Amino acid sequence: MSDGCSCSEIVLLMGPPGAGKGTQADILVKARALRKLSTGDMLRDHVQRGTELGKQAKAVMDAGDLVSDDLIVAMVKSELESMQVIRVLLDGFPRTTAQAKELDKLLSELSVDIDSAVLIEVDEDELVARLLNRAKELGRTDDNEETIRNRMKVYQDLTKPLVDYYQNQDKLTAVNGLGTVEEVSKSIFEVLS
Ligand code: AP5
Ligand code: MG
Repeated sequence: MSDGCSCSEIVLLMGPPGAGKGTQADILVKARALRKLSTGDMLRDHVQRGTELGKQAKAVMDAGDLVSDDLIVAMVKSELESMQVIRVLLDGFPRTTAQAKELDKLLSELSVDIDSAVLIEVDEDELVARLLNRAKELGRTDDNEETIRNRMKVYQDLTKPLVDYYQNQDKLTAVNGLGTVEEVSKSIFEVLS
């Protein structure tokens, strides 16, 4: 819990599609006075507003593929550079080794460092069930079976290598993402305390 400290804090929330990153991010940012930077939410906002970036991203997102590293890094960079004190929770970024390296470079230029990378682990059957359920509730256009299958594959191929990347930097802790939202939050708070 923040006690008015103006120190920087950088937390990464990692995990496959449907693991609960967004759900947990909303809880953590309130409790720790962090700002949420979710590249998925930022992209959906661009799509909704019909910006040039949104137009480029829509088809890629609907297919469950990744938007180009350059576009994503530029988007995050401008947000981070605009903060006087960097207290941020990154949800769904970085997602490729190239993005992780660019983030390290940027943070080093800003003289800050990642405090923790938390990996939320959930098995694939549960992930698919959650996303199909969310499709009924929110109607996200990438929550259909074909796209979900591709999102899982893209995660395995391009994002999972980041588990080793952050383990090698001694920053990664995995938590069990099964159980109630409150149970998962409790595990994450234990990691960050
Ligand atoms: P993004 O928006 O990041 O989607 P994602 O990684 O596929 O993850 P989700 O948002 O689907 O799941 P989540 O882990 O946030 O789970 P949630 O809390 O919602 O990315 C979308 C697309 O944008 C990508 O495919 C790509 O095209 C592009 N993109 C984004 N970032 C990018 C990047 N860095 N580089 C390139 N491209 C990028 O929970 C899921 C559901 O489960 C919800 O209904 C929730 O209520 C429920 N739930 C949560 N916790 C629990 C629980 N404990 N028990 C039961 N149900 C639960
Ligand atoms: Mg999300």
